[in-house]
Parts: sequence; C-alpha cells; structure tokens
Amino acid sequence: MQRIKKRSWAEPYKIKMVEPLRMLSRREREQAIREAGYNTFLLRSEDVYIDLLTDSGTSAMSDRQWAGLMLGDEAYAGSRNFYHLEETVRNVYGYKYLVPTHQGRAAEHLISKILIKPGDYIPGNMYFTTTKLHQELAGGKFVDVIIDEAHDPESEHPFKGNVDLDKLQALIDRVGADKIPYIAIATTVNMAGGQPISLENLRAVRELTAKYGIQIVHDMTRVAENAYMIQQNEPGYADKTVAEIVKEINSLTDHATMSAKKDALVNIGGFLATNDPDVFEQARNLVVVYEGLHTYGGLAGRDMEAMAIGIKESVMDEHQKARVGQVHYLGKMLLDAGIPVVKPIGTHGVFLDAKRFYPHLPQDKFPAQTLAAELYVDSGVRAMERGIVSAGRNPETGDHNYPKLELVRLTIPRRVYTQAHMDVVAESVIEVYEQAGKAKGLKMVFEPKYLRFFQARFEKL
Ligand code: F0G
Repeated sequence: MQRIKKRSWAEPYKIKMVEPLRMLSRREREQAIREAGYNTFLLRSEDVYIDLLTDSGTSAMSDRQWAGLMLGDEAYAGSRNFYHLEETVRNVYGYKYLVPTHQGRAAEHLISKILIKPGDYIPGNMYFTTTKLHQELAGGKFVDVIIDEAHDPESEHPFKGNVDLDKLQALIDRVGADKIPYIAIATTVNMAGGQPISLENLRAVRELTAKYGIQIVHDMTRVAENAYMIQQNEPGYADKTVAEIVKEINSLTDHATMSAKKDALVNIGGFLATNDPDVFEQARNLVVVYEGLHTYGGLAGRDMEAMAIGIKESVMDEHQKARVGQVHYLGKMLLDAGIPVVKPIGTHGVFLDAKRFYPHLPQDKFPAQTLAAELYVDSGVRAMERGIVSAGRNPETGDHNYPKLELVRLTIPRRVYTQAHMDVVAESVIEVYEQAGKAKGLKMVFEPKYLRFFQARFEKL
C-alpha cells in the first residue's frame, strides 16, 4: 500500500525583519476602549496587541518590494514606475488603460462621476461602504442583487458572491435598462464574509447585461483571492493557475476599481482600469482635479513600483495557498470550538456572527460593536464591526439600515502574523463567547454624517 503523504500549507517566505508588539494590562485596555468611545477605529495602534482591524494597507511587503521603493522615479510627470505599473496591469490583469489613484475609493469616486446620472440604479453583489456612498453622491441608488444565501451566515454555498440573475432581471424590468449604467461586481464580497463569485455566474451576468447594454464595473480589490477559491472549488478550474483565473475574471468586465492595499500587497495605492478609451479619457481628465496628474494619481513613484511588484506576487499560487490557508486555519479552530462564524470561511478574514453570539441583544444595541470592544478588552485583539453601524442610515427615511448580517470581522493582514498569533486569537474569541451572557450592549452618542462606523462614539449601557 502506498503511504499518502500529507503536506501542510506553509508560508512561501521566511522572516527578515520583525516589529515588536506591546501588550497592555486588562485595566489599561478597559481605559483605552472607553476613551476610544468603544470604537476600535479610534484606538491607537500602539495599544493593540494583534491587529485584525483590516487587511487594508497592513500587508508585509517583500524584499523585492522594498528594493523597488529605492527605484522610485519621483518625477511629476511620466515616472518610469507608472509605465511599469501600466504594463503590469495590462499583462497580469488584462485591462488596457490605467489611471492610478491614491486608494480604492478614489477610483470609485471617478467611475461613479463618469458613469452615473442622477436617478440611475446601480445593482451590485452586496454593497460595500465606500462604493455605495460614491454611487449615492453621484445621484445613483444601490440595489442589492446578490443571492439570498449571502445574507445567511449559516448557508454553506461555496460561491456566496454570486449574483441572483432573477433579481437583476427584475430590476431591469422595473426601472428599464437605460436607468442602469452598470452593475458593480466585487471579487470577493467583503461584507458577505469575503465570499467569492464563480466564473460560471459571472459569465451569466456578462451575457444578461450584454443583452441590455449594461456595463460591468469590477471591484477587483481581492480578485486573486477570489481566483484561488475558484481554483479550489469550481469544477473545471483545478488545473488552472490563479494568474490564469484572474485574467479570465477580468476579461468578463469592462472597467475595474482597485484598492491595491489588499491583494496587491502595498500599504497605499489603487487605480481605475478600463478597456474603454472614452471612459479612460474622462477619468484621466478628472483625476487631475481630485488626485494628481494622470501618471501618478496621488501616489509617489516608489508606491507605484511597490504596487507593480506586489501585483505579480499576489497571483502566485503558493502565496494564495498560504494566505487563504492561514485564514482557514483560524476559521477551523473557531468552527471546531462551536463559535458562531460565517460559513463557509472566506478569504480575508473570519467573520463572527454577533447575532448568535449575543441573542439577547437587539440590533439597535449594536451587538457587533459590543463584541469587537469585548474582544479588545479580553486580549488586545482589534477587530472591526460589520453590522448595523457600518450599514448606516437610509438616506430617504433617516432610520438605521438593519442589515441581516451583524458581524465582527477578524481580518488577517497578509504575511504579517503567525499561526501562534491565530491560536491566541481563537483562545480569546472562545473566552469572550463563554462570557457572552454578561454583555449589555452600547448606545451611540456621536454619529458622523458619512461612513459613520469610522468615527462614531458609544457608551456602555
Ligand atoms: N472595495 C472593497 C471591496 C473594499 O474592501 C475596500 C476597502 C474598498 C473598495 C475601498 O478601498 O480603502 O482603498 O479606499 N476596504 C477596507 C476594509 C477599508 O477594511 O475592508 P480603499
């Protein structure tokens, strides 16, 4: 009998430089979170032990990327790093035209301004906070057309990022295709728990939208992670590389916005990419108003160099295997311990289901906000609310939006923490779960007008 060899995933790199962490006492943490208004966004990073607030801009760069910084050509116009980035976006992603921006939301701002007219409808596979706000600021109205399973944390559908074609068709029938300039497709879907869309579904979306002249704007922030999940779980893709799948996804879309702070392994950067020369011309003109000249878009030359290198690293199979492998390692520990988390485990973090954590807390006592604060007090682990606070208010009625998903995101930065850190995180979540009955919830005492989750303040009930 042949022995079956089992090989774990392991990081395809070794560590060259370290950054010491500090751990406060429990009493100090209680004071820090009180002073932060029970909002983890308002904590000082120095007061955090393991920072799982976000995977955005928090990656560790490779030695190649750091070396790339030294090649920064800081010319105002026509920096060689821009041309390297442009060539990389063409070769790796397949989009023809590139407009760099300082980060993702700046690209969302540009594309929303260019494509949306007041009164338009923008369907999407669930909302993202900044994406939806820019659609609204341009006069559009976001319509959720994701499959119902995406709103159910217990559904194990492998592609919860899929579009429900009947919902999309119903919207087209109701408002007319001329009121729908584009559909926004995110790879992966952040707010659903980092859930991928399948190529089969995207192809069907392409077919339906093409029939009506509706374009596809691709939020490709985590496209390589989405591609990895397709490789793992979609029939017919096991032998394709992540790089090949990324290109295939992109080829089914017209324009793309990118927050390079995620997949692309840089601390700052983004872009708008398109295959349409007219949209490119308009974006190139608008970017000089809001960001900077069209060959730097708010970035230093060195940032564009690091991004070009990061993009190439991000589509390597072994990188994604370890990246997603680490997220799933944490997810499995929590699932095995019976912790309510969003299933299946997504690609950039593990999402705790605060409704099931705190069944005694109604949503307007901010269960996810409460859970993120409790977790910080327990262990210095910083997580992020992704529930009613993030969902904001309905611009027409002024009431809270009450999302079905009330989640706390344990977001894993790329190439930063070890398996031992994940063990500590799991132990702390389990501890907080055991104490869940004691939580009383929060009340909001300060609420900013836009994207309130970033700066809102709370007091304990
Ligand atoms: N789209 C998605 C899917 C995102 O996750 C983000 C950012 C953006 C767009 C906006 O990009 O931050 O570069 O302006 N998400 C971060 C997060 C903030 O923590 O999930 P940005």
